Amino acid sequence: MELETTAQALVAPGKGILAIDESFPSIKKRFDSIGIESTEEMRRAYRDLLITTPGIGEHISGMILFDETIRQATAAGVAFPRALEAAGIIPGIKVDQGAKDMALHPGEKITEGLDGPRERLLEYRGLGARFAKWRAVITIGDGIPSPGCIEANAQGLARYAALCQEGGLVPIVEPEVLMDADNTLARCYEVTEATLRRVFAALYEQRVVLERLILKTNMVIAGKQCRVQNSVTEVAEETVRCLRNSVPAAVAGIVFLSGGQKAQPATAHLNAMHQMGSLPWPLSFSYGRALQDPALKIWAGKSGNVSAAQKALYHRAKCNGLASLGQYTPEMEELAA
Ligand code: 13P
Repeated sequence: MELETTAQALVAPGKGILAIDESFPSIKKRFDSIGIESTEEMRRAYRDLLITTPGIGEHISGMILFDETIRQATAAGVAFPRALEAAGIIPGIKVDQGAKDMALHPGEKITEGLDGPRERLLEYRGLGARFAKWRAVITIGDGIPSPGCIEANAQGLARYAALCQEGGLVPIVEPEVLMDADNTLARCYEVTEATLRRVFAALYEQRVVLERLILKTNMVIAGKQCRVQNSVTEVAEETVRCLRNSVPAAVAGIVFLSGGQKAQPATAHLNAMHQMGSLPWPLSFSYGRALQDPALKIWAGKSGNVSAAQKALYHRAKCNGLASLGQYTPEMEELAA
């Protein structure tokens, strides 16, 4: 498949991406929350549940895997990338090696992973990956983010994206402005816009083709610790206004991370953006927690709960698929309950 075709398929109408690429520390955190140990077999069993959810390909276009996961297989012995293809889902892979403390920049992160990426991308493509993800983290705080942090992360994203396109993979470029602090929505807007403008300048300098790229970004939203939390309409309007001001219309699509939003608000926000008239780009979701959390809680590490957990995942995928068309209603949650 050509890169444009793959990129367009990832944001096909009514579909979005499921991120199941948690690193070892992140998946341990998720498993700790349900009181189970993070062993290789438990991680495999959990990803098996997600990947083999009946009908999931109706609403999920692609899944992002982790280095360990792309080499694992279903209980029936089918390699995960093959199982995804059979379900009509495009396999993807996280290629960055995590956000580390940035030297001389207290409180800020720089994403690593530009050592030998060409070889790793080639290997992942051989294993079946057709797209990739690189996440940069921008932290809001007293006097941060700094220009140096935004610049260094933008350069990393752009160099990775160029390597992906050279190697035949669609890059998902993910600069995430965290929503953990006490900042207002207006401050998130300002930081998100500055970050995106710098990222697209770096992509241009590195000759990255926008039609062959997906942007993954945060919504414009108040920090979790902020006393003023805005309405669904305000979040939707300010997010779209920010993206219109900083993302070229040529990108193949934009998808959101959930970033700690609860499952239902993440769906409601996306839906509201699609009720504001036509948009310059396909706009959908690439959630991790906001898709997985209900299923993770129901599963709780017990094989007897797999079917109920899969139903919960299917439900969230369906609600978000409809939200990406502006056709979601809160009543759908009650019907499912
Ligand atoms: P969340 O939706 O849980 O924020 O994760 C999405 C993701 O892939 C972050 O890189």
